[in-house]
Amino acid sequence: MTQVISVVQEKGGAGKTTLLTAIASLMVVDGARIAVIDTDPQRHLESWAKKEKTNLDWVFEEDDEKLLPTVKALKKAEPAYDAIFVDTAGFKSAMSMHAIAAANLILIPSKANEADAKGAKRTFSHVQSVAETMEREIPALVVMMDVDTHTNITQAITDALDAQGVPRLGAMCAHRTGFKEMTSTGMAPQGAAKTSAQSVLADLQGRGLINFYRSGAWPKSA
Ligand SMILES: Nc1ncnc2c1ncn2[C@@H]1O[C@H](COP(=O)(O)OP(=O)(O)OP(=O)(O)O)[C@@H](O)[C@H]1O
Ligand SMILES: [Mg+2]
Repeated sequence: MTQVISVVQEKGGAGKTTLLTAIASLMVVDGARIAVIDTDPQRHLESWAKKEKTNLDWVFEEDDEKLLPTVKALKKAEPAYDAIFVDTAGFKSAMSMHAIAAANLILIPSKANEADAKGAKRTFSHVQSVAETMEREIPALVVMMDVDTHTNITQAITDALDAQGVPRLGAMCAHRTGFKEMTSTGMAPQGAAKTSAQSVLADLQGRGLINFYRSGAWPKSA
C-alpha cells in the first residue's frame, strides 16, 4: 500500500524540507519508488527534485483543494509508489490541514529551541483535531532537527516536549553540513548527515511507521 507522509510544522525554518528530502532520497537509494509533492510557494523541495539527481517523481501543487485529488491520482499510479511525501509551508493554513487529512503519517520537525518546540506542540494539537474531525487515527511525531546531541538545550527541549506528552522520535537529525549540501547537489545526504538521517529512517521503520524496507536488508526466508 502506498503511504502518504506529510511533513508539517507551523513554525517556519524548523527543517521540514530537509527532513523530507533526506528521508525520501535515502528510501530511493534503498530502492523505493517515491513521489514528492511540494505545496510551499517557496518551492524549495521542487528546486531540489528538479536537479534530477534523485530518481523520484515530483509535483508542485499550491491549490489546497486540489491536494487530495493529486494524492489520490498518485496513489493509483502503476507501478505503485511505496511512499508519497507532502511538504508544506511553515505556517498554519488550509493547505496544511489538507496535507494532514491526506496523510497516514505526520512528521513534525523541530530544532532545539523554544519557538520550534512551541510550534511542534501546536502542530501536534492541530493534527489531533483534524484526526478527531475525520474520526481516524493519524500517527504524528516530532523529529528533532539540526541538534547538537548531548547538549543542555537539546535535553531541555526534548524533556519539555516529553513532559507535554508530544510523541517524539528517539533518533534525531544532528547538525551536519551534509544536510545543507543536499540543496545544491539534489542528492541524498552524504557522510555524517547520511548516517544521522539513516538512524531516523531506521527508527521510523522499526516502529512500523514506514512500510518500505530496503530489499535484501532482511534475511530471506528459506
Ligand atoms: N540537521 C541539520 N543540519 C544542518 N542544517 C540543518 C539541519 N536541518 C535543517 N537545517 C538547516 O536549517 C534551515 C531550515 O531548514 P529547512 O529549509 O529544511 O526548513 P523548513 O521548515 O523547510 O523551512 P520553511 O518553513 O521555510 O519551508 C536550512 O538552512 C537547513 O539547511
Ligand atoms: Mg521548506
